[in-house]
Amino acid sequence: KILILDFGSQYTQLIARAVREANVYCEILPYYQSFQYEPGLKGIILSGSPFSVNDPKAPDVDIRAMIAKVPVLGVCYGAQLTAKQFGGRVEKSEKREYGRAIIQLKKEDPILHGMTNSSQVWMSHGDSIKELPNGFELLADTESIPVAAFKKTPGDGVLYAVQFHPEVYHSIEGKKLLKNFLVDICGCSQDWTPAHFVTDTVAALKKQIGDRKVIMALSGGVDSTVAATLISRAIGDNLYGIFVDNGVLRKGEFEQVLKTYKDNLHLNVKGVDAKDAFYRELEGKTDPEAKRKVIGRMFIEIFQEEAHKISGIEMLGQGTIYPDVIESVSVHGPSQTIKSHHNVGGLPDTMKMSLVEPLRFLFKDEVRRVGRELGIPDELLDRHPFPGPGLAIRILGEITPEKVALLQEADARYINGLKEHNLYKTVWQAGAILLPVKSVGVMGDERTYEFTVALRAVTSVDGMTADWAHLPYDFLAYISNDIINNVRGINRVVYDISSKPPATIEWE
Ligand code: XMP
Repeated sequence: KILILDFGSQYTQLIARAVREANVYCEILPYYQSFQYEPGLKGIILSGSPFSVNDPKAPDVDIRAMIAKVPVLGVCYGAQLTAKQFGGRVEKSEKREYGRAIIQLKKEDPILHGMTNSSQVWMSHGDSIKELPNGFELLADTESIPVAAFKKTPGDGVLYAVQFHPEVYHSIEGKKLLKNFLVDICGCSQDWTPAHFVTDTVAALKKQIGDRKVIMALSGGVDSTVAATLISRAIGDNLYGIFVDNGVLRKGEFEQVLKTYKDNLHLNVKGVDAKDAFYRELEGKTDPEAKRKVIGRMFIEIFQEEAHKISGIEMLGQGTIYPDVIESVSVHGPSQTIKSHHNVGGLPDTMKMSLVEPLRFLFKDEVRRVGRELGIPDELLDRHPFPGPGLAIRILGEITPEKVALLQEADARYINGLKEHNLYKTVWQAGAILLPVKSVGVMGDERTYEFTVALRAVTSVDGMTADWAHLPYDFLAYISNDIINNVRGINRVVYDISSKPPATIEWE
């Protein structure tokens, strides 16, 4: 395994992700946990940090003790700490260097194997290494800094350091460098797969939970499903899943998802039909935020009520994934400052239970890989994101059961149409929106006066920015006909061609 020592960089998790992507197992430890060699450890990576090495309170570790045992790679702060500890000079840069830089390779070396000259790397540092310590050699520089990569000359231990961040997406050949370090320099075999993650996580969950009972809200989404399946593999029916029908799910979703939970994944899950209670509370609410509040509050009430029915619940399971975990890790170690994000609209503090979050350090695509390993159907894993308040924020204005039924039907036709025309996977999210507008139409020889549905489909990476999907005209023509001819109550279909920003993905 590889150990990543965290000095509090916002990119530490990206290092871990890059290591896992190379199919090598890694663990992150806060820097202050004193280093102890253990069999199986193949190498250490020192992360970046918001600190300057010249700060009196700068975090420090004993690099010499480490390289006596395994190869070490210092990244950014890790590189500066290396330079400083061995007698080099690190000073504040005249010009701070953030973002794109072009590296020039100065030497051939196994860690640079396969990398090209003048490739783009990503920098983020206020200090620079001005002078290398004795017994070190330069491997690369950039136009603005004399030391971009270096190594200790062979002797007592293997030590590499890079000023840039090989772990970030914009360092084009960064992954190559990391792989060279992991495989050629540390001798890691690339055999750590999602199957290993499942085995290790299930074992860790068994230990963490023991014979306690865990309650968990399930939503049909990827994260909660994968998390629940892992927990269930560890503790079986001591996991109590709760899946609430809030009346604003998609057509047939409650029944289908519940069936998958029970029949395919063998989860101990209870389906709670709370449609009427939600409709009652939503009555007369037209403001989007008011609707969200009602749905969040009702969900908590129902979840708590269910929790009280089960005796001796001590823990709360959650499908939190890394991007949900708030921002960066502090130098005092991950566990102290990361706040928990509640996927299910925020559970109240009165539910004081310790959390079980097996996906806390994974990214979405990794969660999907783990989900496939667990045998979760693709149908569920490849779903578009769906907002917690569901169709309630896609019915503009007041919500009635009749309007929900109308939208469910139009939405189902739209989504099925996308799947049948092989377009579903080309868009990031799609859905239909019911407008509070009636307009005149003609069907047969009769005048109609019915609702309008807007279709939305976007391309995006993370939902923060999005473009409207350029769906083929033929498909739009087909789906418009399909909806108007089959959904009584809708006589007009429009397509939303707004990007985000300035629009948002949802209409409310
Ligand atoms: P917007 O509309 O803000 O949506 O561009 C971005 C992403 O967030 C989803 N979304 C929500 N998800 N509760 C949720 O769980 C909400 O209240 C909510 N509002 C928007 C939206 O579906 C899209 O994926």
